[in-house]
Amino acid sequence: DDDSQEYKLVLLGESSVGKSSLVLRYCKDQFFDSQEPTIGAAFLTQAVQFNDLEIKLQIWDTAGQERYHSLAPMYYKGASAAIVVYDITNPTSFDRAKQWVNELQSNGPPDIVIAFAGNKFDLESRRKVEARDGEAYANNQGLIFMETSAKTGYNVDDIFFKLTTKLPKK
Ligand code: GTP
Ligand code: MG
Repeated sequence: DDDSQEYKLVLLGESSVGKSSLVLRYCKDQFFDSQEPTIGAAFLTQAVQFNDLEIKLQIWDTAGQERYHSLAPMYYKGASAAIVVYDITNPTSFDRAKQWVNELQSNGPPDIVIAFAGNKFDLESRRKVEARDGEAYANNQGLIFMETSAKTGYNVDDIFFKLTTKLPKK
């Protein structure tokens, strides 16, 4: 086992956008309609096979409630990757996600790889943020972009895998 193949990944975004649900879908292939707000942060690990290497992701799922905002630097410090999540039915969460990207770009590790995820893709009938708006912002900032659904699993493995492929070699 080689410690050098471990990478820290952090999830950031407003409360209830689905950060914990994305992690739970990715790591355990589970989803709960009754997923509770995260307190502080949750930690999970996931092994990924890539280029004949086993990479271990150390995933920090942060709490989006505003009272936990001051803890965030602890979780993105030293992170190789981040997934910033918004909810396509909630424009406020889209604005908040852009603020998280700004914060990462100003205060985060300089070489951090960032993915921008428009979650709850399954709620198309309640959509308030157009895919092209998410994509335009992400392209402009040089971020990976995907719409996802933790509920159906749509693009969940894909966004984590795409991030993995962009990690710097150690
Ligand atoms: P905090 O921990 O408070 O920051 O919230 P969070 O971003 O971790 O959100 P969480 O995963 O707890 O999900 C909030 C609610 O949205 C729960 O009721 C989930 O079941 C629901 N949810 C999460 N992802 C999806 C999704 O892709 N589609 C739908 N329809 N509901 C989702
Ligand atoms: Mg959570």
